[in-house]
Amino acid sequence: MKFFIDTANLEQIKEANDLGVLDGVTTNPSLMAKEGIKGVENQRKHYVDICNIVSGDVSAEVIATDYEGMIKEGEALAALHPRIVVKVPCIAEGIKAIKYFTGKGIRTNCTLIFSQGQALLAAKAGATYVSPFVGRLDDICSDGIDLVRRIVEMFAFYDFKTQVLAASIRNTQHIMQCIDAGADVATCPLSAIKGLLKHPLTDSGLAQFLADYKKVNG
Ligand code: G3P
Repeated sequence: MKFFIDTANLEQIKEANDLGVLDGVTTNPSLMAKEGIKGVENQRKHYVDICNIVSGDVSAEVIATDYEGMIKEGEALAALHPRIVVKVPCIAEGIKAIKYFTGKGIRTNCTLIFSQGQALLAAKAGATYVSPFVGRLDDICSDGIDLVRRIVEMFAFYDFKTQVLAASIRNTQHIMQCIDAGADVATCPLSAIKGLLKHPLTDSGLAQFLADYKKVNG
């Protein structure tokens, strides 16, 4: 399973990339706003800065919700860097835009996926990735991981090449559940990725090894 980091914070992206296991980055308008990136030119420069840190795909989301606007914005985003993936919301105009981008060889990430039917439409339009939002479904007492599993099974059954990118991952347990569900990618906050490292037996085992070494070697 690939790891993407779900942030527009350059320091966190660098920290995750330095671990050597980062496969890409996802952003969205809320995450860009959180970093205080204002204005189209600054936002585009920020996407290029992110591409210069990581060697994998970087999702950049369109703001337009009409077909023409999405095409114009998506083409401008895709032209910024070869690893930019245009992120498009799962609405009717978005599905049409994904179909257009697919025909032009522009890769896409269909976002705000909350049902298997939405994932099917995005895949039929040729989306590179679909992003089911795990945490937001869990928030309303639905089962986000079950949706990931069902989309994975559907894509395998019908031989879609679209990758399942589990999003709205909130914690380390979600990452483990994504592995069980067969997600192609999990996009996670840095804290959830670092949580994978934690185990008390690793800490106590290392302390014991170092203490024993010191006893003999001083
Ligand atoms: O990748 C989508 C993600 O940023 C949404 O996460 O925690 O706002 O539901 P969250």
